[in-house]
Amino acid sequence: MVKHRAYFGQSGTGKSTLAAYHAAEAGANVLFFNTQDEEGILPGFARAGRGDLVELLSAGRVDYVPAAEDDHARMELDVIVREMFRRRDRVNILIVDEAQEFAPEGGAPGPLERVARRGRRHQVELWVVSQHPADLSKSVLRQMSAVYLFELPYSDRYLKMQHIPSGDLHELLRRGGDYSYAVWDGLELDGPHRLDL
Ligand SMILES: Nc1ncnc2c1ncn2[C@@H]1O[C@H](COP(=O)(O)OP(=O)(O)OP(=O)(O)O)[C@@H](O)[C@H]1O
Ligand SMILES: [Mg+2]
Repeated sequence: MVKHRAYFGQSGTGKSTLAAYHAAEAGANVLFFNTQDEEGILPGFARAGRGDLVELLSAGRVDYVPAAEDDHARMELDVIVREMFRRRDRVNILIVDEAQEFAPEGGAPGPLERVARRGRRHQVELWVVSQHPADLSKSVLRQMSAVYLFELPYSDRYLKMQHIPSGDLHELLRRGGDYSYAVWDGLELDGPHRLDL
C-alpha cells in the first residue's frame, strides 16, 4: 500500500534521523535525494554522487547527493521519477530533503507533484522532508497520508492551512521534549513519540 508522507520541523529536531530509520525498516527500494549532503545519516545506504541514475536505481538503498546547481538537481529528480514510474515491479520510496525547493507553492508542477498525484499507480511512495512546509506546493501537501511534526516555531501559517490544532501540537511537543514528534493523519494528532536511539 503506497502512502505518501512528510517530515516537518526546524533544523536539528530529528527529521532526517526518523525518515532514515523508517526507510531502513521498509521492505522497499529507497532513494534518498540528499539535498543537504548530510553524511552518516543513512547506515546501510550506498552513498552515490553523480553518475548513471538509471543504474543507481537498481542498487536498492541509495543515498544520492544531487548536483549543486538547482537546475541540474531538478533535472536529476525528473529522471529519477520517470525511471521509478517505469519500474512497477516493487515499491520504490523517494525521500526528498528540502522538498519545497523542488515543489514550491505557486510554481509550475514538476516531478514531485507528479509522484504525489500519480505515484500510487506506479508503486512509488513520496516522503518529503522540510523546514518550511508553508512554502511547499499545496498539491503535494494534499496527498500526504501521514505528517510527522517536530518542533517548528514559524509554522503557524502551515498549521492553519492544514487545520492542525497548533495549541495541542505545541503542548504535545513540549511534553515530549527533545526530538519528540506528533503524527497528523488529517484528522487527529497522535503523540508525543520519540525515536529511541
Ligand atoms: N531521537 C533522537 N534521540 C537522540 N538524538 C537524536 C534523535 N533524533 C536525532 N538525533 C540527533 O540530532 C541531530 C539532528 O538530527 P537530524 O539530522 O535528524 O535533524 P534534522 O531535523 O534532519 O535537521 P536538518 O533540518 O538540519 O537536516 C543528529 O545528530 C541526530 O543524531
Ligand atoms: Mg535533515
